[in-house]
Amino acid sequence: MIKKLKVEQLQAGMYIDGMDQPWIKTPFLTHHFMLKKASQLEQIKGAGIRYVLIDTEKSIQHAADTPQEKKDTPTQPVEKTPRYGTPYTKEELKRYCAAINQLTQIEKQTLLKGTAIDFPLFLKTDMSIQCIAEYKGKNIEITDNIIHRTGDFLIDKINNDRYKRYLNSILSSNLPIAKAIPLYNIVIRENSKILMQEIIDNPRSGKKIKSCKSLVEQITGSIQQNGQIVSGLLTLNKYDYYTYTHSVNVCVLCLGLAIALGGFAQKDINDLGMGSILHDVGKSQIPAEILNKPRKLSDREFTIMKQHVINGIRILSEEKDFPKNALYPIVEHHERLTGGGYPRGIRSADIHTIGRITSLVDTYDALTTARPYKRALTPFEALTIMERQIENYDRDIFRKFIKMLGSIEQDEK
Ligand SMILES: [Fe+2]
Repeated sequence: MIKKLKVEQLQAGMYIDGMDQPWIKTPFLTHHFMLKKASQLEQIKGAGIRYVLIDTEKSIQHAADTPQEKKDTPTQPVEKTPRYGTPYTKEELKRYCAAINQLTQIEKQTLLKGTAIDFPLFLKTDMSIQCIAEYKGKNIEITDNIIHRTGDFLIDKINNDRYKRYLNSILSSNLPIAKAIPLYNIVIRENSKILMQEIIDNPRSGKKIKSCKSLVEQITGSIQQNGQIVSGLLTLNKYDYYTYTHSVNVCVLCLGLAIALGGFAQKDINDLGMGSILHDVGKSQIPAEILNKPRKLSDREFTIMKQHVINGIRILSEEKDFPKNALYPIVEHHERLTGGGYPRGIRSADIHTIGRITSLVDTYDALTTARPYKRALTPFEALTIMERQIENYDRDIFRKFIKMLGSIEQDEK
C-alpha cells in the first residue's frame, strides 16, 4: 500500500516511493529506496521536501510505530559535515601526499556487519587520516562502530589483494539473491577501481591495460542486463577525489549514456568503455603535490595539470593494439563545443560523439564529487550549472543524460 507521510513522520526502515519534489531537485538519484541512515533523512529535510510516499509492503518500519513507541531503537549517529579548508604547511602537504599514495579508497558498503577483515582500516576527513581498525594478526569484526563513521574509508595499498579476497568471500557466502546481485555490481566496481589504481601507478603495463577490457565488458554486461545503470556500479558518496574512483564512475556513466542513446555498434561501446575508464591515465605523470592538492589549484598548477591529456595520449599511443576510437575520450574529454576547451580548442563538428559523451560525463562527475575545499554538488545543482553553459555540450546528449540519471536504479544494499 502506498501511504503519504509528513517528513517528520519518516523513520529508518521505511521504503520511499515518491516525494513532493521532482527527483532532480533533490540530492537523490531516485525516489525509490529504503531510508537507512539519519544522513538521508537530513538530506530530505534539507531539500525542502514536506511529504513523501511510502510503500508499506516494502517497508520494515511502519508509520504506526511512532518514535515514542520505538524508544529502544538505537538511533544512528548523524553524519558530521567535513571540515573545509583547514590551513596546512608545505611539509604537511608532502606528508599527506605520501600517505594518500600508499592507500586505496574502498567502499564502506562492502564492509558487511558481522563479517571479518584481515587488514587495517583508515578513515580520511580533509587531510586527516586515522586508523579506525588496527590489525594485529587477528581478524577484525565489522561492527556498527566502524560502518557508521563518516569520511573516506581507506586501506593500505599493499592490502588490495586481501581486500579482493574479502570481496570474493562475501560474494561466495550464501547471500540471498536480492543481496548478492547488488553486491556483485559493487564488487565489479571495486575491482575496476583497484585495477585503475594499479594502472595509474604503472601506466605502461600493457597487461593491466588489456585487463581493463574484461572489466569494461562486465560493466557493459551489467547495464545491458539490467536495462539501465544500477547505482552499485557508481561511487555515490565521494568525500574526496581519487583519479581511479572518478575514472570508473565516468566509464559507467558513459556506457550507460551510450546504451541509453542507442545506435552504437558494440565495438563503439567497447571503445568508449576502454577510452573513458582510461581518460585520465595521463594524471599518472602529474606531480603528487598537484594531483592530491587538497585546495584549489593555482594558475601555474592548473597549466601543469592540463598536460595530463597529452600525457595520456602519449602513454596509450605506445599500446600496440589500443583501438583508435578509444583515444577520443582521452584526447577530447576537456574539449568544449564552443572551442573553449583544451588541449586543442576544437569546436562542435570536430568533436567526436564519443568525446562529447565523455566531456559531459567527466564534468558532471567532477561537480558531484566533494573536495576538501568544496562540498559535492547535488545532481540537480550540477545539471543546473551545466545547463547554464549548455553551448559547451551536446544538447541532445545532455537531455538523454538527465533522463538516464533519473532512472538509475538504486541497489538494495
Ligand atoms: Fe581529465
